[in-house]
Amino acid sequence: MNKDYSKYFTPSLKEARKRLNKNVEIIEYNLPKHLIGLGENKKYLIKTYGCQGNLADSEKMAGILEALGYQETFDDADADIIIFNTCAIRENAESRVFGELGRIKGLKKHNPNLLMALCGCMPQEEKVVDVVMKKYPQVDIIFGTHNIYKLGEYLYDAYFTKEKVIEVFSKEGDIVEGLPTKRDHHTKAWVNIMYGCDEFCTYCIVPYTRGKERSRHPEDILAEVQELAKEGYLEVTLLGQNVNAYGKDLNINYTFANLLDDLNKINIPRIRFTTSHPRDLDDATIEVMAKRGNIMPHLHLPVQSGSNSILKKMNRKYTKEEYLDKVSKLRKLIPDISLTTDIIVGFPNESDEDFAATLDLVTQANFEGAYTFIFSPREGTPASKYEDNIDNNTKKERLLTLNKLINEGFLRGNKRFEGQVVKVLVDGKSAKDPNLLTGYTGHNKVVNFPGDEELIGKIVDVKVEKAYTWHLRGIKN
Ligand code: 5AD
Ligand code: SF4
Repeated sequence: MNKDYSKYFTPSLKEARKRLNKNVEIIEYNLPKHLIGLGENKKYLIKTYGCQGNLADSEKMAGILEALGYQETFDDADADIIIFNTCAIRENAESRVFGELGRIKGLKKHNPNLLMALCGCMPQEEKVVDVVMKKYPQVDIIFGTHNIYKLGEYLYDAYFTKEKVIEVFSKEGDIVEGLPTKRDHHTKAWVNIMYGCDEFCTYCIVPYTRGKERSRHPEDILAEVQELAKEGYLEVTLLGQNVNAYGKDLNINYTFANLLDDLNKINIPRIRFTTSHPRDLDDATIEVMAKRGNIMPHLHLPVQSGSNSILKKMNRKYTKEEYLDKVSKLRKLIPDISLTTDIIVGFPNESDEDFAATLDLVTQANFEGAYTFIFSPREGTPASKYEDNIDNNTKKERLLTLNKLINEGFLRGNKRFEGQVVKVLVDGKSAKDPNLLTGYTGHNKVVNFPGDEELIGKIVDVKVEKAYTWHLRGIKN
């Protein structure tokens, strides 16, 4: 008997906000036998929006689909199933998805068996499922962030019931281990170390769409990284919304610093991690980073604002001074560290003085890059109820002014490598100039240099000849 999906639930953000003291269970994934072969002679295409968390989820969905027999395609017209793995962080991320859903609606005329699925963060919002049901009837399957491991069952039900399959949970699920994963890259891998977020920054939808903080067990993470090292991967990026809170929910006296220290003993050249929260970044973590080894000298430390009153309204739980204190500690122990950040401008009530405080912080922190955003009210978050009282022109001007300052830091950060020999993990040919190879240094700087294709996937020494704002130009040493 197939499940009855006709009375579907739409998620409740009030429910999603609750943090129950329920134990998180570990589910070992087993591919249900009746699903094997479901994708034979069929092709899938996954469109991924948003953060690295979604990229990692898409790799797991691809893993499930391939285990079912599907093959990957990059051509809309060739696909039998198109999955939209969506992002809800700002309105424009959503508009892109709705635009794309409209654009490819006609594909069903040519391929009546084509299935379209919407998953990720958007369905976890309160209204999206209803909007999609009313305005985008071309969507056949909707599920959220907590149940991607059930993708096979949803496809099976959609094929055999010919009805819409909708399942989105308000509450987070358990941790699923052992999902098959089809990694996009042969030398760089994402490794989730935890899911969810308990910070509740007032502007942010993520604690609602991704649920409460749940850490994976250290032995599962270490085993995954060891396996990746064995398979020849050269770089691992640890993923979590607030990696510095890693382990707190496990009650086993094991912190993010302990995890980094243990990973430092594994024979893999590069470990990175994202994202850090300034309040939770502790001395122990900075000290482990200072041991270097395979831990890369780059830290993405989102500050969001340099104004104490805005930081308070954002519920960030630190002041400008405390943030700068952490930066000093980092620079003292890791003098060459490259620091990047995220900043939001135009938060409700942000005055000229508040914005000036942000510019001052940017100058003092000496960032070498940043993602900058205009505040986007997300329904259901506390900040969406604050009066959005900064006019659009002011928001845009602030963004331009900020970006100019950030770009100066970007160039300064690149210039310090002129004349030096740096280690570059070569990703592939440069998209702009196929005669050049491109890759990243330990400090996370892009380097382009002429070189042979056989260097792709290797770490090579490159002498930096010239620094530009967005990249370094070098020659193989
Ligand atoms: N509006 C604008 N930017 C946001 N971010 C998160 N929520 C919002 C929002 N509502 C930004 C923050 C965060 C990054 C991932 O996205 O800067 O660090
Ligand atoms: Fe959102 Fe804040 Fe959690 Fe980051 S730490 S995901 S900005 S709530």
